[in-house]
Amino acid sequence: MGTIRSLGWLLLGATLAGSAAADTSAAAYARGALVYERCAACHALDTDRTGPRHCGLFGRRAGSVPGFAYSPAMRRAGWVWNEKTLDRFLRSPLTVVPGTSMGYDGVKDDGERRDLIVFLREAGGAARCQNLPAGAGRLP
Ligand code: HEC
Repeated sequence: MGTIRSLGWLLLGATLAGSAAADTSAAAYARGALVYERCAACHALDTDRTGPRHCGLFGRRAGSVPGFAYSPAMRRAGWVWNEKTLDRFLRSPLTVVPGTSMGYDGVKDDGERRDLIVFLREAGGAARCQNLPAGAGRLP
């Protein structure tokens, strides 16, 4: 009985460790926010910096933020950002979009990438991303 119960906890632990395909939990979001700190050298949610803003990323065509100076390669990429395209791009930006000006080698860990994408989807579509005044400052 004790053995079966510990096995149950083991399985529960393995599930919580984050192998579920559509993990939209607060924990995944929080882990994703930590991974996003690697992007913050160049990106912010609501302002363009070295890289384009990430507010509204989901459903947006690659290379389409007005006024941002994308590489020709990114402008030509021709896809819409979603879980699948982000997963592919963020694993290896420089090989997926040869000629991209995003000088970053990518997030190689599948779990980290999954959490990061949950964060990008939730934070990028959040109410605080809507109706931004032009030139709004960085989010805290
Ligand atoms: C060294 C600076 C730098 C870092 C670090 C960086 N990026 Fe970028 N990112 C850029 C630049 C510059 C572009 C524009 C690329 C182009 O035009 O080819 C870009 C483009 C993108 C795009 C395409 C956006 C669009 O509007 O089409 C996504 C998505 C993106 N970055 C996500 C990330 C994420 C997530 C991270 C962190 C894991 C990250 N980037 C880290 C500089 C950076």
